[in-house]
Amino acid sequence: MNKQNSQQITVRAPSNIALIKYMGKSDLALNLAASPSLSMTLKDLCTVTELKEIDGPSRIVAELPGGAPSFTTGLSLQVPRLSEKGIHRMLAHVARVQGQAPESFGAFGLKTRQLKGLEIRSANTFPEGTGIASSASSFAAVTLGVAALLAEDLGQFKALYSKNQGFRRSLSQISRQGSGSSCRSFEGPWVAWKDERTWACESKTPELADLVLLVSDAHKEVGSSEAHRRVLESPLWEGRVARVEKRFEELQVQLRQGDLRAAALLSWQEAWEMHSLFHTAREPFTYWAPQSMEILKYFSEVLRTDAHPPIVTMDAGPNLHVLVPVADEAAWTRKITERFPGLRILRDHCGTGAEIVL
Ligand code: PMV
Repeated sequence: MNKQNSQQITVRAPSNIALIKYMGKSDLALNLAASPSLSMTLKDLCTVTELKEIDGPSRIVAELPGGAPSFTTGLSLQVPRLSEKGIHRMLAHVARVQGQAPESFGAFGLKTRQLKGLEIRSANTFPEGTGIASSASSFAAVTLGVAALLAEDLGQFKALYSKNQGFRRSLSQISRQGSGSSCRSFEGPWVAWKDERTWACESKTPELADLVLLVSDAHKEVGSSEAHRRVLESPLWEGRVARVEKRFEELQVQLRQGDLRAAALLSWQEAWEMHSLFHTAREPFTYWAPQSMEILKYFSEVLRTDAHPPIVTMDAGPNLHVLVPVADEAAWTRKITERFPGLRILRDHCGTGAEIVL
């Protein structure tokens, strides 16, 4: 048996981009969504986290993690500026994983070891707080890292994590309690989340690239927790859950059939609906910047006229995600750059979820 003594580990977890959005909660304590959601797992738009066992209480250090992998898309790691509240939330999650993982381990025949405090260094390959779901990637990374260090036998942990989807999903459930969208970053490329469950969706679509049109990297003013609360007070909330449930079922069928055109229209309607909830809340707010609107106008034209329109969506931020088959990535990049010269584009591909690096 490969027993761990004092240990350290480096993990990486990708962000994911939802086509059916998690917006609005039904259970605050368990952090459950009011409606199901479905996303594409990304690959290199990710968080890399190094966790080192220490004697004192756990702490977060604002430094680059060691053992970071290299990225194929020209992305480099940046250490996020975490607020006091952000640090507190992450450390509470570390304690949550320490408290809950042993039960999950037990169900899979894995033994737990005593873990002292942890020193955690995390960095992202993208600017945080701009609608690229850094909470999804950072909470998934920390969940996996803490869980791996809690295992008495790291080799057994790695084998279970790579082969047993049930085990992965049990970690995803713990992760969800720290950040809802993080529960969809443990497998890929297409992942559904409903109530306490996550699962991989069958798909006949070709491998997709995500072109993130970086309109602005300014930190957003309304965080997603606040957004989840405010949308409940929009008059458009009425009927929202039923509409999302219908789209959720429809998108799964479209993915199974490889019908990207239908998925593009459905995703467009879903993204606009989420942003309409923001715009019509009793305390209204918007994530759109002037250039977001220009680009949205361009893509509404594309959706009407192009035989193979990309899937275009926005998260809680001003930036647009344009999902295209990898074979068309260069052509779409060219078209977008010609139409919007100077616009920064981050590029990524679909991926398979959080993993241990070292
Ligand atoms: O996981 P949270 O609480 O950061 O919420 C994420 C919400 C959206 O990114 C806007 C949508 C989604 O499903 O990822």
